[in-house]
Amino acid sequence: MADYTTEVLIIGTGPAGSAAAALLSGYGISNMVVNRYRWLANTPRAHITNQRTMEVLRDLGREVEDEAYMFATHQDLMGENIFCESIAGEEIGRMKAWGTHPLSRAEHQMSSPTKMNDLPQTFMEPLLFKTACQRGTEARMSTEYLGHVQDETGVTTTCKDRLSGREFTIRSKYLIGADGGRSLVAEHAGLPFEGKMGVGGSMNIHFRADLSKYVAHRPSVLYWVMQPGADVGGIGMGLVRMVRPWNEWLIVWGYDINAPEPEVTPEFATNVARQLIGVPDLEIDLISASVWTVNNYYATRTSNGRVYCMGDAIHRHPPSNGLGSNTSIQDAFNLAWKLAMVLKGQAGEKLLDSYDAERAPVAKQIVTRANQSIAETGPIFAALGMAEGVSPEQMQTNLEARTEGTPEAEAQREAIRKAIAFKKYEFDAHGVEMNQRYRSEAVLTDGQLEPDFQLDADLHYQPTTWPGARLPHAWLYRHDNGAGVSTLDLCGKGRFTLLTGLGGEAWARAATQVAADLGIDLVTHVIGPRQTYADHSGDWARISEIRDNGCILVRPDHHVAWRATSAHEAPEAEIARVLRSVLAL
Ligand code: FDA
Repeated sequence: MADYTTEVLIIGTGPAGSAAAALLSGYGISNMVVNRYRWLANTPRAHITNQRTMEVLRDLGREVEDEAYMFATHQDLMGENIFCESIAGEEIGRMKAWGTHPLSRAEHQMSSPTKMNDLPQTFMEPLLFKTACQRGTEARMSTEYLGHVQDETGVTTTCKDRLSGREFTIRSKYLIGADGGRSLVAEHAGLPFEGKMGVGGSMNIHFRADLSKYVAHRPSVLYWVMQPGADVGGIGMGLVRMVRPWNEWLIVWGYDINAPEPEVTPEFATNVARQLIGVPDLEIDLISASVWTVNNYYATRTSNGRVYCMGDAIHRHPPSNGLGSNTSIQDAFNLAWKLAMVLKGQAGEKLLDSYDAERAPVAKQIVTRANQSIAETGPIFAALGMAEGVSPEQMQTNLEARTEGTPEAEAQREAIRKAIAFKKYEFDAHGVEMNQRYRSEAVLTDGQLEPDFQLDADLHYQPTTWPGARLPHAWLYRHDNGAGVSTLDLCGKGRFTLLTGLGGEAWARAATQVAADLGIDLVTHVIGPRQTYADHSGDWARISEIRDNGCILVRPDHHVAWRATSAHEAPEAEIARVLRSVLAL
């Protein structure tokens, strides 16, 4: 007999665990979350928060989304991605990043009702955790996961209360391992991994110093410092990262993973900060310093039986592209509704298999992308004449050469420009963030062909309602007051949604009837003139890829489950076939 029981036990209160807890509580599922430490993230690791993550927060509630914006640094202050000799020294180049280039900004605005922003993990975690606890999650801090055993009906997990030293057990129907990059849950569940841990060494130096006079006129979250040694280990270049504008910073500086791990004393940390900022007597208020390793490692299976892992537990990679916390929160959004529906008896257990089918490819994609981004800094160093093995004196000479009026210098300037522009694959990769199209048994294409990407799929998001893709955003307008409402706002909140148009009322009636028969939550919307929502701008008609009398069935995580391009003679039978298939009933 276990000491405690809950439906879902979550190990870890990071972005993955806290998001899973908040979502499950919102769906009315009892859950408990444990963290070995007494509190949440004590360093502002993750910060770039992309639109897809903000859509998850918006789904949690407008008050959650609004609070995130309140604490975040606005997108307008994120984008002058600077490459320089040092913060106070000469600037070498820059590129507009994170959706701040006017063309990229237009794509962002057309893709989502939300905005990318910079929300340090020290704000994101408390927001998600508070939301979870307010909505019913039982949280136990200073509680360490030790091990678990599972059987046909549930999982018994042993934890240790670190305050008293007492060990106790928790019985749950499912266990979520959201316990980060050294996940014991993933290890105990025997998840298979590919890749390598520890491919590079890096350190974080977190400090306060007012650098306004060097940066406020060229606002950015990232200032990249090209100095000898900056391409060793780490994330490709020396980084001075804004935590709060413009007086709190995090330096990321690499070390050779094959050399002994450096001891980052306050003196050492202060010297690195002075060197990268380029002010020899700069006074810094050091907050913390720590070392970490760059990993290139992902799970090829994300679950085993009743144990599901998410976040860094299944994808371990460098912070390049800012994908870690974002993907962790999105993992939770994928799994939580499935667990809820299975636990409520509204779906068959097989629905849970789709978590692995849908998220394991994403884990591989983002780990590969982030590591590739590190490698893609090489051409900048090469163009500057700063490649590995060149002496510091020669590097300085090569760097100076670009300022001359010779054809060689002109060619060098061109090479530098090209190498920097290519970094949009790290700093403005909207497609990487938004283009996920799921293939699994929780999606039904009925043989419809996947649309090709018209533009580079890493750089540009391409809306489609092809089943498996995220429902495209378009602004609709309320009939009663003309207020704009996103198509995404009509969906989510743990429910299925059926969208149709005038002439498609039979789909709506059929879906309501089938949902009642199956006992599931489903809402329907007929979009058109004099309906609750109208498509006055025509944006929805342009991207919906169905006729007005067709329909789109959307899962609670905003991904399209199925669509019919036009009317059907037996809509009720069709919807019943589809829902039974998607929900593994
Ligand atoms: P996370 O590691 O955050 O949380 C794990 C949780 O499990 C913690 O609560 C821990 O205490 C708990 N735990 C572990 N073992 C336990 C045990 N045995 N018992 C009980 N509890 C246990 N990402 C991003 O999206 N955008 C960005 O801009 C950046 N930037 C960035 C910069 C730097 C310098 C770093 C190092 C990292 C980033 N990241 C990032 C990555 C991001 O920080 C990371 O991907 C997320 O924190 C992962 O969230 P998880 O919830 O999966 O794990």
